[in-house]
Amino acid sequence: MGTEYTTTEIKQKYDDSASRYAFTEPVQELLGVKRLRRRLVGQASGRVLEVACGTGANFPYYPPDCEITAVDLSSEMIDIAKQRAEKQGLDIEFRRMDAEALAFPDDRFDTVVSTLTLCTFPDPVGALREMQRVMKPDGRILLVEHGRSDNRLVAWFQDVRADAHAQQLGCHWNREPLELVTEGGLSPVATRRTFLGIFHEIEAK
Ligand SMILES: C[S@@+](CC[C@H](N)C(=O)[O-])C[C@H]1O[C@@H](n2cnc3c(N)ncnc32)[C@H](O)[C@@H]1O
Repeated sequence: MGTEYTTTEIKQKYDDSASRYAFTEPVQELLGVKRLRRRLVGQASGRVLEVACGTGANFPYYPPDCEITAVDLSSEMIDIAKQRAEKQGLDIEFRRMDAEALAFPDDRFDTVVSTLTLCTFPDPVGALREMQRVMKPDGRILLVEHGRSDNRLVAWFQDVRADAHAQQLGCHWNREPLELVTEGGLSPVATRRTFLGIFHEIEAK
């Protein structure tokens, strides 16, 4: 196992880099992430919790009748997300919160959305268990994630560079999202892999 970062260290990394984070979006678009966001987030309905919303890159894709609560560890990321929501005329409730200890009662949300986060949470399985706890029994968890490629050469490179990559934003790019989802006690009902098997769209119950 490579270097792990604490929740405090992760918060610091995102607070420090929040103003530059939006610059990653054109790169994500090139990798097809925007399309995945649109497709998955467009399926959200009812009372929605977005976990680790970052700067709000998913906000344009929610259907208009969703009642959205968005949480993140980093107040700086939330500040940018708030500005984005305001610009888009979206009424979103923001809370600064640790995904691994969600301050919501059980069975509260119809849909839980989280994107590009399992790579960063210090305890991704703990965070998935929390998402499941706050989701209604007939609710859905919608994830866009990235992880270890199913191409051996790319996976080798990711393994070799894992520590160096994680130093930047605490992102462990060789985690296995599908394994984490199963470990978290969730059942994937629909999954799709794209871009050298790196990106995953996951709908879980
Ligand atoms: C790679 S960014 C992804 C942001 C956004 N979800 C997106 O798709 O662009 C990871 C986000 O997770 C947040 N984060 C990391 N650990 C967290 C935790 N334990 N609880 C809540 N948010 C966390 C970071 O502050 C950051 O905003």
